[in-house]
Amino acid sequence: MKLQGKIAVVTGAGQGIGRGIAEIFAEQGADLILNDVVPSKGLEELGDWIRGKGRRAVTVLGDVSLRSDVEQIFDRGWADLGPVDILVNNAGIETIIPFLDLTDEQWQKVMDTNLKSQWMSCQSFCKRVIADSRKASIVNIGSIQAARVLPGRTHYAPSKLAVEALTRNISAEMGSHGIRVNCVHPGLIDTPMISWVLESPNLRSQVVGQISLGRPGLPREIGSVVAFLASEEAAYVTGQSLFADGGWVGK
Ligand SMILES: NC(=O)c1ccc[n+]([C@@H]2O[C@H](COP(=O)([O-])OP(=O)(O)OC[C@H]3O[C@@H](n4cnc5c(N)ncnc54)[C@H](O)[C@@H]3O)[C@@H](O)[C@H]2O)c1
Repeated sequence: MKLQGKIAVVTGAGQGIGRGIAEIFAEQGADLILNDVVPSKGLEELGDWIRGKGRRAVTVLGDVSLRSDVEQIFDRGWADLGPVDILVNNAGIETIIPFLDLTDEQWQKVMDTNLKSQWMSCQSFCKRVIADSRKASIVNIGSIQAARVLPGRTHYAPSKLAVEALTRNISAEMGSHGIRVNCVHPGLIDTPMISWVLESPNLRSQVVGQISLGRPGLPREIGSVVAFLASEEAAYVTGQSLFADGGWVGK
C-alpha cells in the first residue's frame, strides 16, 4: 500500500473527483481530513466508508477561498490526526459565461475558488510542514482546459492554467525543504460538475469523439494518478503537470 500511515487533506471531497481521490487514498493506507464547503450526506458517508476500511477520517466544513477556513482545515487535521503528510487541492468550480457577458464578480469568484485557494493552502501547509521538520507532498488539481479551448471559459481556463505555474514555482522554492509539488490536469471525468455534458447525447458524443480512449474518465482513475504523485514512488518527481485525460490533449 503506497500511502500506508500517511495523513492527507483532500479539499472538495464531498463528491466527484475529490471523493474518488479520498477512496483510493484510504485503500492505499492513508488517514484523511475531508473538506467541503457544503455539508452533504456524501461527505459524511465518505467518512463512514473510510472508517469502515479501518482508516481514520475527519470531516471539516470550510470554504477554501477564505484564509480563515483554510487555517481551520489544517488546525483540525493536525489536532485530530497528527502531522499531515499530503495535501490535495481539489476543490474547484466551473461556470460557463460568454466572454463579453463576464462580470468582475464572476471572474473573481472563479479565481478565488480555483487559484487563490490553492496558493493559500499550499502556503499554510508548507509553513506547518517546515515547522515540523518533515517531508511532504502536494498535488494540485488543474484541468484539461489549461491546454484546450472550450467556449465560455475565459475565466475558468486561466484559473486552471495558472495552477500549473503555481505548482512549478512553489515546487522550486520548497524543494530544499523536502516538499514536492505536482499538478494533475483531468480531462472529461464523470462527476456532477459535468453531468450536463454527459446527459446530453449530442454533447457527449461530440466531446467523447475527441478522446483517444473513447470514453469519459472515472473519479477513481484520477485518484490513482494523484496517489502515485503523492507517494514515495514519485520521490524524484516535482514541479510537473500530468494530463490524465484519456488522450484528449494529444489527439
Ligand atoms: N469533472 C471534470 O471533467 C473535470 C475536468 C477537469 C478538472 N476538473 C477539476 O477537478 C476538481 C473537482 O471537480 P469535480 O468534477 O469533482 O467537481 P464537482 O462539482 O463534482 O465537485 C467539487 C466539490 O468541490 C466542492 N467545493 C466547491 N467550492 C468549494 C470551496 N470554495 N471550498 C471547499 N469545497 C468546495 C463542491 O462542494 C463539490 O463537492 C475541480 O477543481 C475541477 O475544476 C474537473
